[in-house]
Amino acid sequence: MATAGHALAIRISAHIMTERPHRDFLNISDFSAPETFALFALAERMRAKQYTARSLSGRALAMIFMKSSTRTRVSFEVGAAQLGGTAHFLSPRDVQIGRGEPIEDTARVLSRYVDGIMIRTFAHADVERLAQYADVPVINGLTDLSHPCQVLADVLTMRQHLGEIRGRTVAWIGDGNNMANSWIDAATLLGFSLRLACPEGYDADALLLARAAEAGADVRIVRDAHEAAHGADVVTTDVWASMGQEEEQHQREKAFAQFQVNAALMSRANANAIFLHCLPAHRGEEVTAEVIDGPQSVVWDEAENRLHMQKAIMAVLMGGESL
Ligand code: CP
Ligand code: NVA
Repeated sequence: MATAGHALAIRISAHIMTERPHRDFLNISDFSAPETFALFALAERMRAKQYTARSLSGRALAMIFMKSSTRTRVSFEVGAAQLGGTAHFLSPRDVQIGRGEPIEDTARVLSRYVDGIMIRTFAHADVERLAQYADVPVINGLTDLSHPCQVLADVLTMRQHLGEIRGRTVAWIGDGNNMANSWIDAATLLGFSLRLACPEGYDADALLLARAAEAGADVRIVRDAHEAAHGADVVTTDVWASMGQEEEQHQREKAFAQFQVNAALMSRANANAIFLHCLPAHRGEEVTAEVIDGPQSVVWDEAENRLHMQKAIMAVLMGGESL
């Protein structure tokens, strides 16, 4: 008995020892505040071209896209290449996951080939299952619940244009969607104020709001967009119908009519306030052309920052860079 028990203990400890330690990035709360500020500093070195290490040399990223993408796909692909690695685009049209191969099997198989998996999909639970079964880091490239890579890039853009983020106020105007949810997480973790102006019935995730309240975060819901924008340092919005909600477009146009970011709304914000939008944008719906193409808009820097932010995330999760 003792021998069998001993053999079992050796097998267990061998398993533990050979298990590759790794971290995932599924939500903003997966990094602590000091780690997140270190990630920003690394991304800023990358933007300044001060970081030249080939930290992904010989490493590969698999990218599963169950929804469309321009920015996320290209910035991960180019970012991996700039760090010396490769990125492999997998769309449901081409890979077996689109024909019903279980996510658990996909996770186990991809883990034998690659050093990290980025996934964009519908149900957040699918990303959690992928992470549970993968032996490599998993990065959330957008789910119906959250879009953490984008919001880290947005906060990086705030730092670029406004400096210190603590004490700043962000006004979220429109749908309480995946972007709004990640802004709630970011405000909770990083200590800035967030005002969410969403029409009734289109609020952000109740659980995340409750967690923010519990943590004492300054996150407040208002029903009036002008009230939310009053004195804000950042005004931000997103499409009224997200990917997968196309059939609700008409109904949403009516519900969100009073939630457009236009010149009148921007005039309620601070004089030096910036406008952010994760893109793609619908001019004439959630934002006017005057605002998104105007002097307060920093949306092209924001889009560029996706590249620097994700390179920092990959360098840490897949390239051995420490925080
Ligand atoms: N903002 C964003 O995620 O853009 P894509 O859908 O083009 O990736
Ligand atoms: N909320 C949008 C973001 C797109 C980047 C969507 O999910 O479609």
